[in-house]
Amino acid sequence: MNVPHPPSRFQSDHQAGYQSGFGNEFATEALPGALPLHQNSPQRAPCGLYAEQLSGTAFTAPRAHNRRSWLYRIRPAAMHQPFRQIDNGRVVSRFDQVAVPPNQLRWDPLPLPLPQDGADFLDSWVTMAGNGSVAAQSGCAIHLYAANRDMADRYFYNADGELLIVPQKGRLRIATELGLIEVEPQEIAVVPRGVRFQVMLPDGAARGYICENYGALLRLPDMGPIGSNGLANPRDFLTPRAAFEDREGDFELVAKFAGNLWSARIGHSPLDVVAWHGNYAPYKYDLRHFNAIGSISYDHPDPSIFLVLHAPSDTPGVDTLDFVIFPPRWLAAENTFRPPWFHRNVASEFMGLIEGQYDAKSAGFRPGGASLHNCMSGHGPDAATFDKASASDTSVPHKIDQTMAFMFETRDVICPTAHALASPQLQPDYYQCWQGFNKHFNDEGTGV
Ligand SMILES: [Fe+2]
Repeated sequence: MNVPHPPSRFQSDHQAGYQSGFGNEFATEALPGALPLHQNSPQRAPCGLYAEQLSGTAFTAPRAHNRRSWLYRIRPAAMHQPFRQIDNGRVVSRFDQVAVPPNQLRWDPLPLPLPQDGADFLDSWVTMAGNGSVAAQSGCAIHLYAANRDMADRYFYNADGELLIVPQKGRLRIATELGLIEVEPQEIAVVPRGVRFQVMLPDGAARGYICENYGALLRLPDMGPIGSNGLANPRDFLTPRAAFEDREGDFELVAKFAGNLWSARIGHSPLDVVAWHGNYAPYKYDLRHFNAIGSISYDHPDPSIFLVLHAPSDTPGVDTLDFVIFPPRWLAAENTFRPPWFHRNVASEFMGLIEGQYDAKSAGFRPGGASLHNCMSGHGPDAATFDKASASDTSVPHKIDQTMAFMFETRDVICPTAHALASPQLQPDYYQCWQGFNKHFNDEGTGV
């Protein structure tokens, strides 16, 4: 029996209800009594449900990093027709096909699709860049989406990596096997590898960024001398309560598996998990809750001070992926060049802008746009920003407000795709923002 489309479709004890905490052992049921007590796989699960384990880490991963959940569902996940390969569209998973230029690159926002060119969340992916390898389970892919249609009768899962979704325009209603997540711009959602989901667009159109993380699961950073509070606080991460749909029909299940897209018919909704417990689950986080920490004396800390989540590598202190934000904050450092300085890094940086203006660029970096500054490529403030910040009064604090920029920063070079390098949104004159610096040098030992 078909059940009406959202918002009434999901059956839950709390519509869009959430549980607080990061990586906690959650327990939730949409139907009282559906969750077995004290045993994961009883001979007969309650309510005629099937018990199924979903593992996100090796069985033997250390307890602190072990992620798995037990799902109690109407039908097992194995029940679908065979997959057949479909066109990958503009989704790319190999990043050794294009010679990577060391140029600074910047793109305008992806235009929203025209009404007659309807595209759902999944249709609309455009891979901009990436590194590492799906097969080696290291690195990431960076996609943009710009969609105007619901994923009405199709569902998706990604076997290649977890998805960090950063909306820039329009809300997303992400119905997952483990419950419902609603996010708006300035919030993020993470859908774990393998979790089946569907995306609806309550505002009719949506645009944003996706980082597909092939590496270790994203986690909160250690805090070192900062102490036990600050940055992204665990209690602000929200995981959905169980919600399910008991829906039959002719549906499509799309998989991203080993770098390619595959499609299978499925006769029921795979979002049929009535109860679950465990610590492998989707979550959301409101970036506006980030507790930004910075200098209260002088100088400008490294951007790692704004780290929200990271995927550590096998080398201590080196991550395959950092998710860093530049939220509204006070600048109080005295006698200091306050914007991000000129720099070159061993790391590579893909930036996006959710709202407002980024403090190192006076123009050209638009909300929904993106920039890429690769390993050892010089970058930093443009000339206008340099002149303004060099002359500003640093005896008084200054509030940077109504802005939210972010960065996907990686250990390995971020390789743009052929699509990205041929994109009409690529700004050919980006380099010009660093051409206007006057020569201030004098050999008399005086300052500017
Ligand atoms: Fe940078």
